[in-house]
Amino acid sequence: MSRSVSEIRKDFPQISDDFVYFDNAATTFKPQSVIDAMTHFYESKNANVHRGIYDLSEEATELYENARTIVRQFVGADDSYEVVFVRNTTEAINLVAPGLDYKVVILGGREHHSNLLPWLQNENIVVHQADANNDILKHPKLSTKADILAISAWSNVLGKETRLNEILNNSNDYCRIRLVDAAQWVANEKISMNNIDLLAFSGHKMYGPMGVGVLVAKKGLLEKMRPLYWGGEMVDTVHRATNSNWHHTSIEAQMADIPQRFEAGTPNVAGAVGLVAAIEWIQKNGYFSDEKIALYKYARNKMREIPHINVLPGNDIICFTIDGVHPHDVAQSLNEDKIYVRSGFHCAQPLLEELNYGPVVRVSLACYNTKSEVDRLIIALKKVQKKMGIE
Ligand code: ALA
Repeated sequence: MSRSVSEIRKDFPQISDDFVYFDNAATTFKPQSVIDAMTHFYESKNANVHRGIYDLSEEATELYENARTIVRQFVGADDSYEVVFVRNTTEAINLVAPGLDYKVVILGGREHHSNLLPWLQNENIVVHQADANNDILKHPKLSTKADILAISAWSNVLGKETRLNEILNNSNDYCRIRLVDAAQWVANEKISMNNIDLLAFSGHKMYGPMGVGVLVAKKGLLEKMRPLYWGGEMVDTVHRATNSNWHHTSIEAQMADIPQRFEAGTPNVAGAVGLVAAIEWIQKNGYFSDEKIALYKYARNKMREIPHINVLPGNDIICFTIDGVHPHDVAQSLNEDKIYVRSGFHCAQPLLEELNYGPVVRVSLACYNTKSEVDRLIIALKKVQKKMGIE
């Protein structure tokens, strides 16, 4: 039986009735178990990984390498996939975009800047983007086969792409590699790797620490991919070439195997440990998908009763505007009532512009949000309107 929301709230030390946190799409709070796991690492397990043959280093290496397997199994990836630890979703996509050889990319129509800009840095490739309807299969440019489809599973403005399975299932007809941006998906639903070759997400949006993210990738693709960063940890042997001298240094380097070759320098071991604790928290407590959708529905219905509020589509996120009030002013007024929301373009400016919106206010929920918090939001929104004289 799932635990009540009041029980769940006790797991998160930062949660308080003094304020309402509705910016979970930007980052979630962390349960005590995640904080404890990281503290425990730094208190008694800290050592660098892959470098020492002493006990402590081997123990840290085991924690780090086990984290890879736990993450892989968490997303339901079999052992034809490998996990590369990165800093966040953005870094994962920035690793893939220049790392593979390809000519044509198709992008989903609801992408965060992180799944747009990395693909636009290579002038020698062709990038097609679907429109906001995400009608990828009807895209006029798809008469020629693409190499990569890169699409978000869950928009940070419109919520879940309910046709993701259909899009991926039919993607063999027009592309050979499928990358899914799972940044907003991972905390909200059990992930399936069906028809996905590359999956990117961040720890901090799934109750885990900031600074650790994941690229789950087909091993065959990683074998072909070029590293982004070079240095220690990612090479096996490095020699000065025989004809090398002070004026003309030449180095011969033999890269390490995958996934190490993509993780130059000391990795975020404590982050990986914290991510495992976040996974364990989710596995024990669940995703609260139905509860969140019900709460979004409740909030949306209440907001629609208020004149001059325009709510964008989407069942699992709420973006809205108030006629005549800048979204930053709305967010600032809500802040005065200790209700924390994000306002602006949400790093998805082309999407909002295509929908004929400018900046918007966003309410994004997590497992610890309650109906009474939504009621506080509704009262505060009515206050904003009164203050702005637009009742
Ligand atoms: N991508 C995050 C958001 O939507 C930061 O807020």
